[in-house]
Amino acid sequence: MKIQKFLIISICLFTTFQSFAQNDTKKMDKFIKKLMKQMTIEEKIGQLNLVTPGDGILTGSVVSKGVEENIEKGNVGGLFGIHGPEKIRKAQNLAMKSRLKIPLLFGSDVIHGYETTFPIPFGTSFSWDLNLIEKSARIAAQEASANGINWTFSPMVDIARDPRWGRVAETAGEDAYLGSQIAKAMVRGYQGDDLSKNNTILSCVKHFALYGAAEAGRDYNTTDMSKIKMYQDYLPPYKAAIDAGAGSVMSSFNDIDGVPATGNKWLLNNLLRDQWGFNGFVVSDYTAVNEMISHGLGDLQTVSALALNAGLDMDMVGEGFLTTLKKSLSEGKVSEKQIDAACRRILEAKYKLGLFDDPFRYIDEKRPANEILTEENRRFARNIAAQSCVLLKNKNNLLPLTAPLKISLTGPLANDKSNMLGTWAVTGDPQKSVTIYDGIRNLLGSNSRMIYTKGCNISDDSLFAKHVNVFGTRIEIDKRSNEEMLKETDDVSRSADAIVAILGEASEMSGESASRSNLDFPASQIRLLKSLKKTGMPLVVVVIAGRPIILDEVMEIADALIFTGHLGTEAGGAIADVLFGNYNPSGKLTMTFPRNVGQIPIYYNRKNTGRPQSGVEFEKFKSNYLDVANSPFLPFGYGLSYTNFEYGDIQLDKPILNDNEPITASITIQNTGRFNGNEVVQMYIRDYVGSVSRPLKELKGFQKVFLKQGEKKTITFKISKEDLKFYNSNLDYVAEEGDFKLMIGTNSDSLKEINFSYKPKQ
Ligand code: NOJ
Repeated sequence: MKIQKFLIISICLFTTFQSFAQNDTKKMDKFIKKLMKQMTIEEKIGQLNLVTPGDGILTGSVVSKGVEENIEKGNVGGLFGIHGPEKIRKAQNLAMKSRLKIPLLFGSDVIHGYETTFPIPFGTSFSWDLNLIEKSARIAAQEASANGINWTFSPMVDIARDPRWGRVAETAGEDAYLGSQIAKAMVRGYQGDDLSKNNTILSCVKHFALYGAAEAGRDYNTTDMSKIKMYQDYLPPYKAAIDAGAGSVMSSFNDIDGVPATGNKWLLNNLLRDQWGFNGFVVSDYTAVNEMISHGLGDLQTVSALALNAGLDMDMVGEGFLTTLKKSLSEGKVSEKQIDAACRRILEAKYKLGLFDDPFRYIDEKRPANEILTEENRRFARNIAAQSCVLLKNKNNLLPLTAPLKISLTGPLANDKSNMLGTWAVTGDPQKSVTIYDGIRNLLGSNSRMIYTKGCNISDDSLFAKHVNVFGTRIEIDKRSNEEMLKETDDVSRSADAIVAILGEASEMSGESASRSNLDFPASQIRLLKSLKKTGMPLVVVVIAGRPIILDEVMEIADALIFTGHLGTEAGGAIADVLFGNYNPSGKLTMTFPRNVGQIPIYYNRKNTGRPQSGVEFEKFKSNYLDVANSPFLPFGYGLSYTNFEYGDIQLDKPILNDNEPITASITIQNTGRFNGNEVVQMYIRDYVGSVSRPLKELKGFQKVFLKQGEKKTITFKISKEDLKFYNSNLDYVAEEGDFKLMIGTNSDSLKEINFSYKPKQ
């Protein structure tokens, strides 16, 4: 005990250093070595156990038993699902009663904000704004740490190309390049430059790996793909997060090449640790160790040994490690060395967080009142939410609306706090969110009028509603008949200057275990739209959803259309800002929107195939459908503005790229419309000929630029050899000599083009 105290004091002296330097590593090694010498095998295994007591935030179907007793016995390495400094202090006090007083990690699903909730990650990705996204993670870390949390299960960086999958809502969309930039920004935001500061938290990259490629978009389903596709399109964002210094990784539920990620040695050891050099710890997803029994890999003891041997360090909730590893050790199925390695990695994370210096570092009952849900954080939430809105249509420049006017506000999401935050807002309070009704009312002057009517239910299907409403009512089926609701809205709308309809998905229609096989717009809402159309009044539609949905009818009926993800605490103010022009929308879609479910998977960086269609019409013996076009309904990167941006031609400073000097491409963009605005300028490259078939285009750069009305700016992109690299058949990451097409423009389908060549110097 005395040694422990001495060590604790000596560590105080250097945890104030700004970053974790080599010197720190040496001291950490020494400290952990000494500590581990004192640990029994039970205590080491205890560190590998992550529990959730279940009296707070429930994010799975199993809760841990005997938590308090286990903490005191040294059987617990970390806790998640508890809320507030009082409970966290109580748990840490229990850990301080254990023999070696090893502090606990306190985890939480801080996914898109903590109590101040930002748009769902799918939504914030529409901003294409890395500074904003990083700041959102910074604020989330500040708030979470003020409440005692030191570890977040974020960022989720899974690539999503199938909108049927509900967890699209938690992703940054379909593209590996954009996803990688966002992953890095999130890690920087959470972890800052010094993990031991009391306002930075450990991040956990998830779900490693390929979780987004679940077959048929059904959550937790099998994944199966070629290694080239894996390396090229799915793995980069995980790698980017790790390169940015993420301290932990969460293994995914799915299997890869037949072996569940949680027990996949190739994935966790060869790729993650050996090839990528990851030196943090890997935690399983919720009961994922136990789930390998259902995957058909053996009994609990077998799968637990499999996971440890594969490189998994911490077992979330399932207690397979806790209850079987000692037996496996005695039977020679795992080695003490492996248990030590896992234990060491977890202790290192605690050390880096400064918890051995002060186990109560993150626990301060005075912080929440000053740091959580502050006015400043709310202002930021409103700003990022406005920047996450995508304008899809604006007939006759109906938007922005100008007051004074009489508005008929309608739709089941227009005045509904319970659906503003979106999925995975487990620490946000829906009651503290601003509805669209309140947001518009607060913005409108007293000489404007607004009447709200619900208009219809999110869905009329009571069984569907029951499935969605597991954690509380999100789809409320009105007692009134559809006819009554429609009539009420119709009466109000006929005398209005403009109708604003707020439609879409309830928050839990996306998220975990919320896959949909049918992405049609709910029939109840289409009925409302058709009835609104009959009034002949200008019709503005805002669609809030957690995934791409089929928008053809809505696009046809609406005069103006905005699409966005669930926007969080300040949803109402943000929508009002966009509708009334306080913010000129600049969001761009980060997933391709299909025309129908049959086109899925559909993504912009597709390959040409050997039989590409020559135009848009059906051609026999070409790669197309009899009943639908190949093109998507809306392309990746799409989004309009209240103003217009005109692109000039691309100029290159030289036509040939050598190894050392990048090509500089420049393009002039002019704001020729009526408003100031931001434009996300996108840069794509096509490799015409390769040793393997290459996509028609790949995003390689983007810039968000602000242009005043009438202003002209020249934007430059540097193209280097790195931008041309891809994985060849040997999985080498190479740039091959040859001809390329450079494309720059406003979305992946509307681009200026120029050719260049790459010739390495001999
Ligand atoms: C299961 C989810 O897949 C994961 O994303 C989450 O972090 C854990 N549950 C903990 O809540």
